[in-house]
Amino acid sequence: MKIFREEHFGGILYNTKNLRFNLVTSKPGDVDIVLKQTKPPVRIDIPSAPVRVYFELTRRCNLGCKHCFVSSSPIAPMGLTTDELERIIDELSSSRVIDVRFTGGELTSRPDWFEVLSYAKRKRIQISVNTNGVYEKQNEIITKMKELDPNQVTISIDGNKEHHNFMRGPHSYESAIDTLKKMSLAGITTRTNTVLTKLNVHDIPQIIEEVSPYVDEVNFFHMRPVGRGVNQNRLSMTYDEHFESARDTLALREKHPDLSIMHFEQSYRERAVNKSEASVLEDSLSHGTTTINIDCSGGVWPNGYNVYQDRRMYLGDLFTESLESIWNNNRTLDLIRDWFKAVLKKCQGCEEYLQKCPGLSPEMEIANQTYGVKNNFCISETPMPILFEKSVK
Ligand SMILES: C[S@@+](CC[C@H](N)C(=O)[O-])C[C@H]1O[C@@H](n2cnc3c(N)ncnc32)[C@H](O)[C@@H]1O
Ligand code: SF4
Repeated sequence: MKIFREEHFGGILYNTKNLRFNLVTSKPGDVDIVLKQTKPPVRIDIPSAPVRVYFELTRRCNLGCKHCFVSSSPIAPMGLTTDELERIIDELSSSRVIDVRFTGGELTSRPDWFEVLSYAKRKRIQISVNTNGVYEKQNEIITKMKELDPNQVTISIDGNKEHHNFMRGPHSYESAIDTLKKMSLAGITTRTNTVLTKLNVHDIPQIIEEVSPYVDEVNFFHMRPVGRGVNQNRLSMTYDEHFESARDTLALREKHPDLSIMHFEQSYRERAVNKSEASVLEDSLSHGTTTINIDCSGGVWPNGYNVYQDRRMYLGDLFTESLESIWNNNRTLDLIRDWFKAVLKKCQGCEEYLQKCPGLSPEMEIANQTYGVKNNFCISETPMPILFEKSVK
């Protein structure tokens, strides 16, 4: 199904099958749903609202993975009440947000996860889910997930059995693979996420062999030095390891023509706002331009990692300010948008860009600039633009 959200420059064209969207200058003839523009645009340099929202429903989790950027655990905060979550969903729906990716923590730790996600669906939001696939009541969760019928369920597979269980805990691999198979058999559209480190980077072909019968997409990306990920920094890949992993992984597309194989390098380019499609907008990274993140207290951030990186990236909360006001008026958000544009421009001018760049990572640069962790993924001699004048430490 195709959804078209009207914008001053044309609109957003969203495909519910692969959850991808483009900024286009006119409405194609074959769209199924049109989200009408009901008021004049407040600004013409950005779309009227986020297209996609990443929503951290809870910080609580049944696991305690070694690298978790959220630092989730069984005693982490559960988050907002059902009513509060539904109020936020009402606002996302009235702002014409097309797609919400529900994540955590582990959202199935919340007794009301099904109720909240069903509510979002009733509000005509396209929904997808990130989960670890390790459930005490596996049958019940799979049955509810089938009933919910999200556009996509992403399950984390962080290596072969040995490496996944090292990072995520004993037997978590066996449980996650079993859930993946059962969800796929139930007709749920599934995808896997793999956080790459020095430990598991050579497991990629094995992971693809194992999961490819059950998924539409496999998605590989690098570990961020955020939350508990900071303690695992010794496992971060080097520039060359990451580049080689991207090259070798994307070469596997030929062997698996029916499987969407994504590696970080590709996905960030696809997430960038492309000037040629909507000429009034400048080239930019998606965070704060087409996507935004809500944390488990209703706080708004440019992206999910930033919540655990630097408080200065906090944009406000949805109980004291509307999403529309944060989106259009927040000065920190504009500062960050400008920084993302400057970072992208610097990378586009770099001779490694499109040659041997393993993929621009703003989170790595923020980690570098705010708490001094080296950005392994940039070898350019030209310094990156500075986001905030002073580091936090
Ligand atoms: C925080 S988890 C929440 C969803 C669910 N609990 C899970 O593990 O899939 C969302 C995604 O972030 C990934 N992740 C966790 N720590 C990370 C880190 N330090 N860097 C990059 N991704 C990370 C997880 O592997 C998962 O794919
Ligand atoms: S990565 Fe996911 S499963 Fe692991 S501790 Fe974090 S939230 Fe839980």
